[in-house]
Amino acid sequence: MKPYDVAAIRARFPSLANTLPDGRPIAFLDGPAGTQVPQSVIDAYSDFFLRANANNGGLFSTSRAQGEVEDAAHRAAEDLLNAPKESVKFGANMSTLNFQLSRSLARELKAGDEVIVTQLDHDANYSPWRLLAEDHGLVLKTIRLNAADGTLDMEHYASLLGPRTKIVATGMSSNALGTINPSKRIVEAAHAVGALTVLDAVCSAPHYPVDVQALDTDFLLCSPYKFYGPHAGLLYGKLPLLERFGRYKVRPAHDLWETGTPAFEAMAGVTAAINHIAWIGAEFGDPADHAPLSGRRGQLRAGLKAITRYETELVRLLLDGVDQISGVQVRGITDRARLNERTSIVSFTMDFATPDEAAEHFGNDGIQVWSGDFYAPNAIDALGLTEKGGVLRTGLMSYNTADEVQRLLASLKALASLKTLAASKS
Ligand SMILES: Cc1ncc(COP(=O)(O)O)c(C=O)c1O
Repeated sequence: MKPYDVAAIRARFPSLANTLPDGRPIAFLDGPAGTQVPQSVIDAYSDFFLRANANNGGLFSTSRAQGEVEDAAHRAAEDLLNAPKESVKFGANMSTLNFQLSRSLARELKAGDEVIVTQLDHDANYSPWRLLAEDHGLVLKTIRLNAADGTLDMEHYASLLGPRTKIVATGMSSNALGTINPSKRIVEAAHAVGALTVLDAVCSAPHYPVDVQALDTDFLLCSPYKFYGPHAGLLYGKLPLLERFGRYKVRPAHDLWETGTPAFEAMAGVTAAINHIAWIGAEFGDPADHAPLSGRRGQLRAGLKAITRYETELVRLLLDGVDQISGVQVRGITDRARLNERTSIVSFTMDFATPDEAAEHFGNDGIQVWSGDFYAPNAIDALGLTEKGGVLRTGLMSYNTADEVQRLLASLKALASLKTLAASKS
């Protein structure tokens, strides 16, 4: 097993070499809003348009080539999620797929039935259910967030479950605070009362292995543009459930969920992105981490475990550095013994600057981060931060470096001194 070589990984991403107009390097710490892509993803687009640009099902060579691209993408997505054949569907993005899924599940729901969501989640895993409840007279129940560490209140969850619970739709990990939720426990408890489960894995899939069979979830959604791929969405469903609930399609379409002409070129890119993660596994993964899977599934598992280990060290560095700067509060899990309960999305607030001010300051230093609520308004509200502009979010991805974390910390220190000086003069 070779040590994790971030330089070799970065060399595969041409955009990481971009600079500010004055030549300073750019630190892409904005990954949770969408990652950069390796050259292989860019090449896959060109290859599709040069070689396979046809609609599907034609009796001619480019259409056959297109069919191979489509098949390859489905096999890759199934491998990433350790899903059975034909159980992963492509769509425009997670939000659109979740609206489609929720409307499809509504076929078997009656007024008074209950849907459980969480206060922590991205709105794409909240509003589809909120609006469904409004349209069909359902009862929407929301699992509370523990504001102190950004975790879900599992006792509250237990108290919400009951005989009328039909759907439990929860995020696997938070795009705002980085919390990893106990998804397996959530699924088990939902199944115990006969409810179906939907997991939002958008912010999990880039950071650690997501195994739909181990989770035993009924449905799961994620977005390849968060794991080094193009803009697209993925929906996993247990095969009998996909069959039972699939409905909204035009008649000649052969698939119950993929209707209309999809972005075939994005499918080509998704395969390349997944192969990139498998490459990390093959190069830098621990062979012991492949088990119990083999082939590309094993490589993906090992790759994502190697990524988790690497990103966790960056988180530790960032948390240790932030501790040295007064007036900065990390929102979410900071206990070093619990870093396995969080991803490498680290958000904080500052006494000396608003999140927007800080994001602009970092941006001027070539450090790209996001500020605000990141479409997780309920979570930001629960923390009492809505009026204060939310939080400053950094996303440490498999291609980010310790140097970039140090640059962020230096820039944060400079901002703290600047603001403190300005305050002392006024
Ligand atoms: C946790 C989470 N869920 C859902 C979404 C929505 O995904 P999409 O942009 O594919 O609709 C996002 C996007 O940021 C997200 O972070």
